[in-house]
Parts: sequence; C-alpha cells; structure tokens
Amino acid sequence: MLDYEVSTYGDKSAADYDMLMGGGEPPEPAVAFLTSLVPTGNALELGVGTGRVAIPLAGDGLSVTGVDSSAAMLAELRRKPGGASVEPLLGDFGDLDAAVGDRMFGLVYSMCSTFYFLRTQEEQVRCFRGVAARLEPGGVFVLELGAPPYRRMHERQYVDAFRVRADEAAFFLSLHDPLAQRVDRQQIVMAEERTRLVPVSYRYVWPSELDLMAELAGLSAVSRGSGWSGGEFAGTGRHVSVYRKEAV
Ligand SMILES: C[S@@+](CC[C@H](N)C(=O)[O-])C[C@H]1O[C@@H](n2cnc3c(N)ncnc32)[C@H](O)[C@@H]1O
Repeated sequence: MLDYEVSTYGDKSAADYDMLMGGGEPPEPAVAFLTSLVPTGNALELGVGTGRVAIPLAGDGLSVTGVDSSAAMLAELRRKPGGASVEPLLGDFGDLDAAVGDRMFGLVYSMCSTFYFLRTQEEQVRCFRGVAARLEPGGVFVLELGAPPYRRMHERQYVDAFRVRADEAAFFLSLHDPLAQRVDRQQIVMAEERTRLVPVSYRYVWPSELDLMAELAGLSAVSRGSGWSGGEFAGTGRHVSVYRKEAV
C-alpha cells in the first residue's frame, strides 16, 4: 500500500479507536489470563494503543510499559483514567533494541493481531528474536492473533460489511496476496456528513509458521487456545499462543 507507514494505522484511528475500531472489547479475560501466567514484575505490550488492556493490567504486582509507533495513540492512552499507570514508549516493536533498549521483562504480549502489523516474514522473525532477547529467563510471550483467512486462499479481493445502519455503513475493502500472506485494507465508515478511512496493511502468519519463528528465536511453545478463557483452537476465529524462554 503506497504511503503506508508504521504509524499510519494508529494515527488515523486513534481519535475513535475505542468506539469505532474494535477497541471496545472488554479487557478482563485477557488481564486474568496474563496475570495468571505472570502475576508480578515487568510487562511489555507491543502496540499498546489506547491502553485498553495495559491500563487494567498495571497495578498490583505488574508494572506495564507499552510501545507504540503512533504518537496519537499514546496521547489517547495518557488522556484516559489510569493512563499514567502505564509507561508509554514511542517506537517500532519490529526493532525492540531501539524501542526499549536493554530492559528486561517477565511478560511480553500483543493483542488483537497487532503482531501482523509487521508486514514481512523477516520483520516478524526479527521481532521474535528481539522479544526473546528482552525476556527474563522463564519469561513468557503471549500473542492474540486472528486465524489466517483459510477460506479465502483463492480470493484476491473481498468486501466485508461490519455495520449497516439507516445513516451509516461501515465495511472493509481488502486486497489479498495469498503467497505473501499479505492483506492491504481500507476500513471505511460512510455517514451522511463524512467518510472515514482507516488503512491497515498486514501479514498474517500460519500457526505452524509462528511456532517455527519462536523456535528460531529460542522460545518453546507452551499452549495455544481459542481465546482467553481456554478451549481448543480449531483453526478459525482467533488463537492465543504462549511461548516461554527457558529458565536457566
Ligand atoms: C489493533 S491496535 C491494538 C491496540 C491495543 N493493543 C488493543 O488491544 O486495543 C494496534 C496498535 O499497534 C500499533 N502499531 C502498529 N504497528 C506497530 C509497530 N511496528 N510498532 C509499534 N506499534 C505499532 C498501532 O499504532 C496501534 O496502536
């Protein structure tokens, strides 16, 4: 997608991410899952956005840092009640050395398919290696990811309606490259007064490929469930995958 940069999605969606763009999903199940794995210490969220999960996660035993490439998203996070409890870092999680320096974490996590925002396999492998380097021994990396679009392997373009009202229509317009595992998408909200465009470009990953990226980085696969409350991942919807760095 021409003119698409690492901050484009965040900058374009920040103002109404929580209301419009899926940021409204309740955080409690994710928070319960993450704290059951790592109740205390330092946590890092990749692509923290408006702090939907980071804010309720911060406190008690965990101190939470959130890296995001969009200054507009981090401004929304700071504005929210409790936002000051999360340390915001402006940076690219594709280059964790630059983003967080030599700090170490017991928990690194990423929500809502945000890992897919790294648009090439090379960047994704580099991210896994960066996470492994920043994890304490015994630390865990948790990824919430949508399943690849299995049913759409033969489709190069498609439209998904996600809201139809008397005065508004909202839909995704996607171009799909199944060989590169790449989707270039406009999220379009059309209303009488204005049209909103939120572009997103991403590379989805097959679960087996994800496990291989982890292995390349020296992380072991722990579990893969269909969501935060458990249940077996059957290939559709989303999965929550957990990897661990060996304790020495
Ligand atoms: C789908 S939103 C998820 C926000 C939040 N984690 C949540 O669960 O609601 C993705 C976030 O990742 C950020 N992002 C995308 N690519 C990034 C990158 N390479 N480095 C840092 N942040 C990135 C975007 O700016 C956006 O805030």
